[in-house]
Amino acid sequence: MKKSTTTKAKEFLFRDAPTIPLEIVDSGGRYIIDKDGKPYLDFTMGWCVGNAGWKKKAIINAVKGFQGPDYVQPNFLYKRWDILAEKLVCLLPHARGTCFRATGGTEANEIALKIARAYNKRKKFLAFKGAYHGQSLACLSLVRIPEHEEHFGTFSEDYLQISTGDWATATQEAVQCIGRGNISAFISEPFICNLGVLVPPQNFFDEVMEVCKKTNTLFICDEVATGFGRTGKWFGFEHYTLDPDIITIAKGFSSGYGAIGATIAKPEVAEAMRFEFSNYSTFGWHPLAVEAAIANINYLQKENLPSKAKESGVYLMKKLSAFCKPEGNGLCIGFNEPKKGTEIRCRKNGLMVSSINNRIVLFPALDVTKKEIDQATEILRKNV
Ligand SMILES: Cc1ncc(COP(=O)(O)O)c(C=O)c1O
Repeated sequence: MKKSTTTKAKEFLFRDAPTIPLEIVDSGGRYIIDKDGKPYLDFTMGWCVGNAGWKKKAIINAVKGFQGPDYVQPNFLYKRWDILAEKLVCLLPHARGTCFRATGGTEANEIALKIARAYNKRKKFLAFKGAYHGQSLACLSLVRIPEHEEHFGTFSEDYLQISTGDWATATQEAVQCIGRGNISAFISEPFICNLGVLVPPQNFFDEVMEVCKKTNTLFICDEVATGFGRTGKWFGFEHYTLDPDIITIAKGFSSGYGAIGATIAKPEVAEAMRFEFSNYSTFGWHPLAVEAAIANINYLQKENLPSKAKESGVYLMKKLSAFCKPEGNGLCIGFNEPKKGTEIRCRKNGLMVSSINNRIVLFPALDVTKKEIDQATEILRKNV
């Protein structure tokens, strides 16, 4: 029997859930384009990936024009790795750190967990229940989503969680748990994008950092979604008085022009990994992805996009406040979804937004214009 294209596609390519019925054939600026040529104003940017915007010549040309080696094995010297590592660390407010090479966010977080275990020789981790740090078993164990445990089996008791909702309770739970002195690291996003952009108050991080310091527990800041200007600063943690021991990045690191991630640890913490084969990533910092990341950072700097995101974020927040209660910073914004289906209704009207945890999240490109914000908020106002 001749199989239809859809049946074949089902067999050949695994999908965990029904796909969004939209075939993407192109992208440009702040838009993605479907197979009928219809443009959609993109307020997700691949979920915090395309910070620079789509089809940026400066980045595309750097990748296309690259003349270096096709591949470099991780244990060789390669100048562009050193250049990128220095560039990356110099974006941090204190310009101190040692970079580990990764292909994406999950791997960056796995490396962070390994560093923490090697550093203080403890096995337990603490994270926000239901948040997200990646798809590996360790990353899934961190956040303990019931559907995952149902199918993958019960996760180890070494992974502990605190709940969000009431920050006073969350603070108390975290302080008590870390205070026992047997946690290797606490991991969190600075703004929890994966729970719909929840913004912990400063005192949450103050109290958590204090008990972490007292007990030699590390704080891993997952900046995979919030990094690279998304929140109006280079990194989300800069909105707080916060000194993470390890920072993980991916997504906006290349703005989607290369598959790349990194784990940046304080040099004294990174030292714990100085033993044979402590880490190896065949495709971590592939030469083409490195060119994309370098060109992306140069572009974000030249165009001053983190500051632009801050300004546009204030404007977007003001417009949203007319019909909902937005939370967030810069262009990393979430609000409660009053009626299910906002994502679909907005898409039908030419706007891409994302819904998660009964919240709508907005992650437009950092160079989004006022006119586009006006268009998007008008569609949202009519469709939430
Ligand atoms: C905060 C956060 N951490 C980690 C990840 C995993 O990154 P990747 O899909 O690149 O493995 C994601 C992906 O959405 C994320 O949002």
